[in-house]
Amino acid sequence: MPMALTAAFATKISDNTLSVGIIGLGYVGLPTAIGFHDAGFEVWGVDVSQRTVDMVMAGKNPTGDPDVDDIVPAPGTERWHITTSTAEAVPHCDVVLVTVPTPITHDLKPDLSYVEAAGRAVFEAIPKGSNTIVVLESTVYPGVTAQTWMPIVEELGLIIGEDLEIAYCPERFNPGDPAHGVRQVARVIGCSNPEVGEALVTLYSKLTSEDVRYVGKLEVAEAAKVIENVQRDINIALVNELARIFPALDVDVEDVLSAAATKWNFHRYTPGVGVGGHCIPVDPYYMIQRAADVGVPAGLITAARAVNRTMPNHVAQVLVNILWKAGLSAENTKILLLGWSYKAEVGDPRETPAEPLAEALHEKGIAVAVYDPHLSSEEMPDHVEWVDSLDMAEGYDMAVLVTAHKACVELDWASLLQQMKTPLLYDGRRVLDLSRLEAIGWDVHAVGRPN
Ligand SMILES: NC(=O)c1ccc[n+]([C@@H]2O[C@H](COP(=O)([O-])OP(=O)(O)OC[C@H]3O[C@@H](n4cnc5c(N)ncnc54)[C@H](O)[C@@H]3O)[C@@H](O)[C@H]2O)c1
Repeated sequence: MPMALTAAFATKISDNTLSVGIIGLGYVGLPTAIGFHDAGFEVWGVDVSQRTVDMVMAGKNPTGDPDVDDIVPAPGTERWHITTSTAEAVPHCDVVLVTVPTPITHDLKPDLSYVEAAGRAVFEAIPKGSNTIVVLESTVYPGVTAQTWMPIVEELGLIIGEDLEIAYCPERFNPGDPAHGVRQVARVIGCSNPEVGEALVTLYSKLTSEDVRYVGKLEVAEAAKVIENVQRDINIALVNELARIFPALDVDVEDVLSAAATKWNFHRYTPGVGVGGHCIPVDPYYMIQRAADVGVPAGLITAARAVNRTMPNHVAQVLVNILWKAGLSAENTKILLLGWSYKAEVGDPRETPAEPLAEALHEKGIAVAVYDPHLSSEEMPDHVEWVDSLDMAEGYDMAVLVTAHKACVELDWASLLQQMKTPLLYDGRRVLDLSRLEAIGWDVHAVGRPN
C-alpha cells in the first residue's frame, strides 16, 4: 500500500467515510456488519442465502444468537446496504471482510470451498487500481489465505499493492455471550505488508474496545486462532477423560477438580456430554491436516479430538448401565433430553453432541425426546420426538440435561418429577444441585460421578 493510500485510508477512517463490505452474514458476519455500522461506517453486507438477505433487509435476525435479535438495523437505515450480489457490493468498498463457513468434510478434512468461492467472487468484482483490502476472518489453518486466494489473484491478473491487499484477522467473539461480543474482543491482524496491517489496526480499533494488534505475516494470525481452539479442545478432553476414569475408581471427578483447583496454577474445566459448535470440534482438524502436510505428527491434538468426539457414545453407554441397574431394558425406555443446542442460551444445533448421543440411544432401541426452547422441531432428526412444552412431558424414564439453558437448569423439577414414569436424572453438564434434587425424590446421576 503506497504511503499516500495509507494516509487516505486513515483519513477515511477518522472522518467515517470508509466503506466496509462483509461477505457472509452468519453468526460472525452479521454482528460484525452491525458493529462497523454502529461505529459510523458505510456497510455493504452480502450473503448468498436469499432467506438470510430477506430477513436482514427486514430488520430480522436470521441467526440463532439472541444477542442479535434487537440490533439488526431497520429497513431504510442510512449507510446500511444488504444484497446477495458480491459484484454489486465490492466496488463500493474500501475494505472487504470475508466471514464464510470453514467446515470439515465427512472424512474430517478441511472444506475450503466457501473461502475459495467467496474470494473468487470478491476478486472478480474489485476495480483495477482500487487497492481494496480483502481480509479473511474465517477460521483456517496457517497458510490457507495465501494458498487459497493467491492462485485466484494471479489467474485474474490482479496485482497486490495496486489492485488489492490481502490480510487475515480471525474472529474470536462468543455467540450468546454479551461480555464477549464483536465489540469487546481483542483482535490480531496478519499481513505481509506492515503498513496495511497497521491501517487495519486503526480500522478494527473503531470496532472493538479491546486490544488490536498487528502480529506480522498472515500465518501467525491464522495459527493463533486455530491454536486457541485446539487448546480449549485439549483442556476439555483432559477433563472428559478424567470424567471417565474417576467414576471407575468410585470417585466423583467434580470433587477431585474442586480439590485440585485450590492450587494457584490449576485451570478448572467442567466435563460434559461432548463438545459442540462449529469451532472447537472442527478447528483442530485444520491443524491436524496442516501438520500432516508438513510431515509432523499431531498426536496430542488428535487424541484430544478422539476423547471429545467419543464422549456422547460413552455417555450413551453410561445411561444404558443406569437404566439396567434400575431394572429397565433399553427397548421399553423413553429418555427426555433437556436441551439440544451445542451451548447454553443459543439456538445453534451445529455439531451438537446431542445428535450423536440421541443417535447412539436410538440405535440401542431407546426412544428419545427433546425439549429445547431455543430451537424448533424442524431442526431435529426424524428419530427424535419433539417436546414443545414440559407440561406435555409425560411418562419418561430418564431426564438428561444436555444443554445448560437457563430454561432447562431452572425448570420446575418437582413438577417434572411427578410426570416421570421413573425418576432417573442425569446431569450431563454438572450444573445441577444434585443434593437438592435427590432430596425431592430424583434418582440422580451425572457425568464423572460414580453411579
Ligand atoms: N460462530 C462462531 O462462534 C464463530 C466464532 C469465531 C469464528 N468463527 C468462524 O467464522 C466463520 C463463519 O462462521 P459463522 O458461524 O458465521 O458461519 P455461518 O454459517 O453462521 O455464516 C456463514 C454465512 O456465509 C454465507 N455464505 C457462504 N458462502 C458465501 C459466499 N460465497 N458469499 C456470501 N455469503 C456466503 C452463508 O450463507 C452464511 O449465512 C467460520 O470460519 C467459523 O469457524 C465462528
